[in-house]
Amino acid sequence: MKTSFQHATIYYYSGTGNSYRVAEWTAEAVRQAGVDARVLSILQARPKSEVPEGETGLLGLCFPTHAFTAPWTVIRFALGLPKRAGTHAFIIPTRAGMKFGRFIVDGMEGTGGYLLALILHWKGYQVTGMRAMNMPSNWTALFPGYKHKTVEAIERQSLERLADFMDAILSAKKQYRGIVALILGILLLPITIAYILLGRYWLAKLFYANNNCTGCGLCAENCPESAIRMHGKQNPRPYWTYSCTSCMRCMNYCPHNAIEASYPFGIGLYFLSQVPMAYFLLRWLGQRLGLGDGLQSPFLNGMLQYAFILLAFALAYWIFALLVRIPSVNRLLTTLTPTHYYRRYREPATPAAVLVHPDHGK
Ligand SMILES: Cc1cc2nc3c(=O)[nH]c(=O)nc-3n(C[C@H](O)[C@H](O)[C@H](O)COP(=O)(O)O)c2cc1C
Ligand code: SF4
Ligand code: SF4
Repeated sequence: MKTSFQHATIYYYSGTGNSYRVAEWTAEAVRQAGVDARVLSILQARPKSEVPEGETGLLGLCFPTHAFTAPWTVIRFALGLPKRAGTHAFIIPTRAGMKFGRFIVDGMEGTGGYLLALILHWKGYQVTGMRAMNMPSNWTALFPGYKHKTVEAIERQSLERLADFMDAILSAKKQYRGIVALILGILLLPITIAYILLGRYWLAKLFYANNNCTGCGLCAENCPESAIRMHGKQNPRPYWTYSCTSCMRCMNYCPHNAIEASYPFGIGLYFLSQVPMAYFLLRWLGQRLGLGDGLQSPFLNGMLQYAFILLAFALAYWIFALLVRIPSVNRLLTTLTPTHYYRRYREPATPAAVLVHPDHGK
């Protein structure tokens, strides 16, 4: 294949290896065309010196879909990229494909791909292509991981689609897909916003380690967001903070399959979020200040309720983390949560070490 590109930098962000694997496949296609290509993690990136300049340069961005859009870490990274006039760019969100019988049904990347394309276009890049790739679902806090055969079939399909996409990119032909997903993503924006404002915090606080945990601390070391703190000197156990983006790495790479998401606790948190605390607090404040119900502004009420929910979740989780240290309580909760019976998932050819200590393109 003839191409005018000389250098390519392909960035990825990945929880369980899917987007990393797609970035590697992409780099392989680029190298086969005689182009010098490197695959780099956005977490160790130094884009000013790494993103090639001019029309012989190519930039790629691979990342997972979270709640019908790109993860915030990826959006923030793209916003911080240097301006480049003319450098070509392509975007590949990965998403959860599903297999029913012989058919593979596409996942839904929603607004993620085109949002990133827009940011890069605004920065002066020539965005030649955007195409989402199906990969196995990694959301094992909600669904069981797929069987090996299903994983293989989905990856095979993606490799074929990727070959076609990279042919177009390398010959500088435009290839944009996912307009329907974009429209659906816009319609589903309320869900995306609810996830960003609240859902991700709720999900982060469902994680705990079951009695199989040895306190090895790998989950904390491996977390791309440094969202896990090990609590307890004698008997350390992971504690999930609000920095968690639910990338699913900890849950799927724990060597003892010890990480669970507690559904019973999740239901409890849901009911806690329904307590109309802000209403009573504002009434009380209004009466104290002699304003009667004058402080009953819907905006203030909403903000206070939001602050109450986040604080209440954090406090409830702190108590929950103490309770799950009691082996009998831990056993009971583990028996009651479906994740205990779910198969875990990680991209089969991607060990944790590759994701945690990438060689940064060397
Ligand atoms: C919190 C979360 C939200 C997700 N939301 C979506 C989604 O909206 N649409 C979709 O098709 N897949 C969704 N997925 C599946 C992942 O995007 C998909 O499995 C991806 O390939 C994972 O890539 P990674 O291993 O590089 O992180 C979601 C996964 C997680 C963990
Ligand atoms: S949850 Fe798993 S990875 Fe984390 S400390 Fe326990 S055994 Fe180690
Ligand atoms: S705590 Fe686990 S799920 Fe959350 S960001 Fe870290 S590795 Fe990912």
